[in-house]
Amino acid sequence: MNENLRGRLTRDGIRIYEPEDFAGMHKAGALAASILDRMAELVFPGQTTEAIDARITQMVEEAGATSATIGYKGYQHASCISVNHVVCHGIPGPKMLKDGDILNIDVTVIVDGWYGDTSRMYVAGTLSRKAERLIEVTHDALMKGIEMVRPGNTFGDIGHAIQSYVESQRMSVVRDFCGHGLGRVFHAPPNVLHYGRPGTGAVLEEGMFFTIEPMVNLGRPETKTLADDWTAVTRDKSLSAQFEHSVGVTADGVDIFTLSPAGRFHPTYG
Ligand code: MF3
Ligand code: CO
Ligand code: CO
Repeated sequence: MNENLRGRLTRDGIRIYEPEDFAGMHKAGALAASILDRMAELVFPGQTTEAIDARITQMVEEAGATSATIGYKGYQHASCISVNHVVCHGIPGPKMLKDGDILNIDVTVIVDGWYGDTSRMYVAGTLSRKAERLIEVTHDALMKGIEMVRPGNTFGDIGHAIQSYVESQRMSVVRDFCGHGLGRVFHAPPNVLHYGRPGTGAVLEEGMFFTIEPMVNLGRPETKTLADDWTAVTRDKSLSAQFEHSVGVTADGVDIFTLSPAGRFHPTYG
């Protein structure tokens, strides 16, 4: 059987993986997370995002793994680095970080054919109060979404948990990008929306693997994509933040594949 076609598909076209497949996802997720654990010391005023990306390329190579993003739809880098009002898919480049800049670093690796996809927020220098609040709300929104992951709940339950919390904090959830199924492939069904109504959407089943990766804006939710065809920014130029985990549905809950080995995921920058 084709390795990419193992397991079965639900009516919604969502692949159900086998219990033994969780180990592969853990290995890939742990590598992606350990790369992010090593980013904090690379983020400082005067640093360029291309220098950060070059280190990521090196770390992926040293681990004997493959970058999922290099060559993906023509993308040429091992990470997306999205600074301030960049919502996602920021392209690493020669521009220097300034004191107070906040940035998302998003890394996806392939280990033994399994994909690990995760992102976190970092700050160059001093973190402003409003950026700190945005980052905390975004992180907590992701975790509230993850808390809804168990068999029998729906994808709408996840989206609703995220949206209702973010909006209660007077911030907005980006609609133009979503999480995704992954496993032996990078992007597969379903689209994991970060907004929605309870009880709607596909029902979660044991063996589903997907990402949750909410993008939260201080201002309005609308985005636009720049002429480079990748960089997505907030239309109103407001600050944006994002966190991403890859997860699997277990018999009674959730398994997070991209937990920080060093316990550094939470934005206290430990
Ligand atoms: N890692 C991103 C995600 O969370 C996808 C990046 S695709 C790229 O799905 F080509 F922009 F790198
Ligand atoms: Co993703
Ligand atoms: Co990602």
